[in-house]
Amino acid sequence: MPLRLFLSSGDLMADRRFEFARDLQLKGDLPAAADLLEQAIELAPDFTSAWFTLGEIREKLGERDKAITAFREARRIDPGDRHGASLHLMRLGDAELADMPRAYVQALFDQYAPHFEHALIDDLGYRAPSLIFKAVLAARVAAKKPALFKRAIDLGCGTGLAAAAFARQVDHFTGIDLSPGMIKEARATGLYAELEVADMIEGLRGKADAGANLIVAADAMVYLADLGAVLSEARRVLAAGGVLAFTLETHDGKGVVLGEGLRYAHGVEYVRDAIAKAGLRLVTLEPASPRNENNEPVRGLVVVAEKT
Ligand SMILES: C[S@@+](CC[C@H](N)C(=O)[O-])C[C@H]1O[C@@H](n2cnc3c(N)ncnc32)[C@H](O)[C@@H]1O
Repeated sequence: MPLRLFLSSGDLMADRRFEFARDLQLKGDLPAAADLLEQAIELAPDFTSAWFTLGEIREKLGERDKAITAFREARRIDPGDRHGASLHLMRLGDAELADMPRAYVQALFDQYAPHFEHALIDDLGYRAPSLIFKAVLAARVAAKKPALFKRAIDLGCGTGLAAAAFARQVDHFTGIDLSPGMIKEARATGLYAELEVADMIEGLRGKADAGANLIVAADAMVYLADLGAVLSEARRVLAAGGVLAFTLETHDGKGVVLGEGLRYAHGVEYVRDAIAKAGLRLVTLEPASPRNENNEPVRGLVVVAEKT
């Protein structure tokens, strides 16, 4: 990901050392970059961005214990964890799998918002909204029901690509997203009747029972480890016959893992179980890649479920 968060230390010298260190890191001279970061930290001990970057470099150098120390420092200094140090601690086996820090998701997507569509569609061949659209259409055709929905909710709506895909199918769209920057872009599309800056589970909790006919989440549930809460809230909010459709990333094993791209990957059995436990009827669960990474299609799933 080309964009990255920088939190100034407030000390000009320390910030300069950090910049030099980043140059060296990008050029591949990791030991020299680590030295400079340590100097920056000596000048400004609570320099979160330096601790976090040092953690990344130590991890790359295979220095696991030192990487853990650095990531722990980054998280201690910034408990909201805007850099997502805790995700690296999870990957290094130093922390239990847990939901992503909200401040991290917000900071990531606020930075990304103005460039999001270009970065995703042009660079990464992003296709989650069209996968969901086609899967919902196919499911409705198979059920001999019209693919028209009065009220829809777009979870993790981002800039509005899912609402654009479903624009002709939906009368009233509500978008929910943690990132104010993304919501601003979504508002500019004019596609949503309502928009909320909120966590998707809390946003759903604020909705009346049986008030929606369609709920979509394109490439957004990859930021949730446990799908239980979002699925059961979705069931409550859907009217009878309502449809829930989303994409995921997946892996061959059981349960949920945090992938290299720092998004969760959910195993097929886990997904089947979670849908059944939430009391939804599974309609479609198919392999489908939502995007590319390193020029390879990421392994994913498209899921359609119904409230009976
Ligand atoms: C990869 S983007 C996809 C955006 C959009 N659905 C699309 O297809 O273009 C993921 C979005 O999910 C949002 N997001 C991640 N975790 C979230 C959460 N727990 N609650 C609400 N939004 C979340 C992010 O802020 C981001 O806008």
